[in-house]
Amino acid sequence: MEIDVFTLFPDAFDWFERQRHVANAIAHGHRLGYVNYRDHTPLGAGQVDDTPFGGGAGMVLRVDVVEAALRERYGVDPIELPATRRVIALTPGGRLLDDALVDELAAEDALTLLSGRYEGFDQRVLDHFTSEEVSIGRYVLAGGELAAMVVCDAVLRKLPGALGHEHSALEESFSKALEGAPEYPHYTRPSDFRGWTVPEVLLSGHHGRIRDWRVAQSRERAARAARAADPPPG
Ligand SMILES: C[S@@+](CC[C@H](N)C(=O)[O-])C[C@H]1O[C@@H](n2cnc3c(N)ncnc32)[C@H](O)[C@@H]1O
Repeated sequence: MEIDVFTLFPDAFDWFERQRHVANAIAHGHRLGYVNYRDHTPLGAGQVDDTPFGGGAGMVLRVDVVEAALRERYGVDPIELPATRRVIALTPGGRLLDDALVDELAAEDALTLLSGRYEGFDQRVLDHFTSEEVSIGRYVLAGGELAAMVVCDAVLRKLPGALGHEHSALEESFSKALEGAPEYPHYTRPSDFRGWTVPEVLLSGHHGRIRDWRVAQSRERAARAARAADPPPG
């Protein structure tokens, strides 16, 4: 897979690229690339943003700047791009990222992620150059870089070779193996710490009972999460 991240702060990804699963994915031939809008701006003095028509606080990322960056990277008029690849604008109000969307994205050969800053994108970027908007949650971050890292992290760890232990990605929270439920609890040594003991079944060596216990725990967590999300009235 090839992922291009458009950003004003490519250096922000230095730490991210050093993470084991990301480095593994790159070593397996997947590619992460960065395009700095500022390197391609047609305006003087590295300008990328401007004041909003109609007034209001903050600055808006200009449509001509985003167009120039996309055109330079892909060599086509960017209005043609959404027909050939997923061009995702990261926005607080977009489609919420969940495991199903991560699976969808991980099945693509190529992704483009547009990170915004300031007040966000000129609406014409969203209307004409992107295939969709994706949000990592209903809150507002200062910029799209962390959101892009979240998307890349979740997608890359689904790719073969990214995790040392392939089984890890198959049976974890929200996976089909756990019927979409959160994962069961894990314990390791010591088996008794301050009197907090590990459930007996996990020490039994009985694989069938351990499996049943884990499934039951996972279902119980799902039920608890559902109750917390939708508490009974009163
Ligand atoms: C300060 S935010 C802009 C917020 C915008 N004025 C609004 O009220 O929706 C700047 C940029 O951060 C990114 N961003 C902020 N929160 C995000 C979220 N929850 N999910 C995805 N991207 C986000 C977007 O790229 C956005 O353009």
